[in-house]
Amino acid sequence: MSAQYAHNVQRIDMAPAVADKAMRQGVMASSAITIDNLTKRFPAPGSGDEFVVLKDISLTVDDGKFVSIVGPSGCGKSTLLNVIAGIESYDGGAVAIHPKAGSAGSGPRIGYVFQSPRLLNWLTVENNINFVLEAHKVPRSRWRDLVAKNLAMVGLAGQERNYPLNLSGGMQQRVAIARALAIEPDILLMDEPFSHLDAITARKMRFDLMEILERAKPTILFVTHDLSEAVFLSDHIYMMSTKPAQIFKHVAIDIPRPRKPEDARVFDLEKELVREFFSVVEAKG
Ligand SMILES: Nc1ncnc2c1ncn2[C@@H]1O[C@H](COP(=O)(O)OP(=O)(O)OP(=O)(O)O)[C@@H](O)[C@H]1O
Ligand SMILES: [Mg+2]
Repeated sequence: MSAQYAHNVQRIDMAPAVADKAMRQGVMASSAITIDNLTKRFPAPGSGDEFVVLKDISLTVDDGKFVSIVGPSGCGKSTLLNVIAGIESYDGGAVAIHPKAGSAGSGPRIGYVFQSPRLLNWLTVENNINFVLEAHKVPRSRWRDLVAKNLAMVGLAGQERNYPLNLSGGMQQRVAIARALAIEPDILLMDEPFSHLDAITARKMRFDLMEILERAKPTILFVTHDLSEAVFLSDHIYMMSTKPAQIFKHVAIDIPRPRKPEDARVFDLEKELVREFFSVVEAKG
């Protein structure tokens, strides 16, 4: 049984017994997201033509893994996340979101931290989070605890009654992160979530994210420009080129956790990837 949801993203919702049997038969790996030869075009500005933004993108994100996508500005990273989230259409290939192994019939819960906070300015911080909890049918009795726990996690305890426009840009982004975490997502899409934070807060948030990963084991697909952040956080990195965006390298990282940003292995891998990244991206122009 499978269901289409917005824009052809195939959400495979199946009863646990069917899913387990499929897994045993090897029909379905324990993947959370699979993308096969995805192509996406946008209208070219000022002409009737189209340009290819994503070309033949294939990647797999396994259950409970932290996967990063690194690519230059404008290459199509946000577009890729929007396609996966089902809020952007695509032109070729296939995108599938799989249920968590052994989960009940409903599809996975997807949290999305957008590149900008996208808060509702007329609602309090608490009601911004409640709004999403309600949309995901989280029982009302849990709202207060989930709001308090996740605001504390992002260093914003006590800001429940404040309004977004009274917060700094970095604080707004942290509310957006708390909002995505509050639904206790199976899959978390994060689009450069720490890039607007100061270095100290960003470092703390990376450690907190590692802890969440240890406890809740969500699947995370994380977009960043920052290769050192990607190496520190990820199990896998996909590196993208531009015009059109194509994946030119996939790296599996087996540095044991918990990791330290100062770990020589993190540092060495970052250096190697930076060298390769610039040689490919600069050659493509
Ligand atoms: N809705 C749209 N209509 C037309 N073109 C678009 C649309 N959204 C994005 N684009 C174009 O697609 C390309 C990729 O945009 P996207 O926002 O996905 O890049 P990005 O990799 O996330 O960049 P950044 O790192 O700067 O956030 C850009 O050329 C952009 O102008
Ligand atoms: Mg972007």
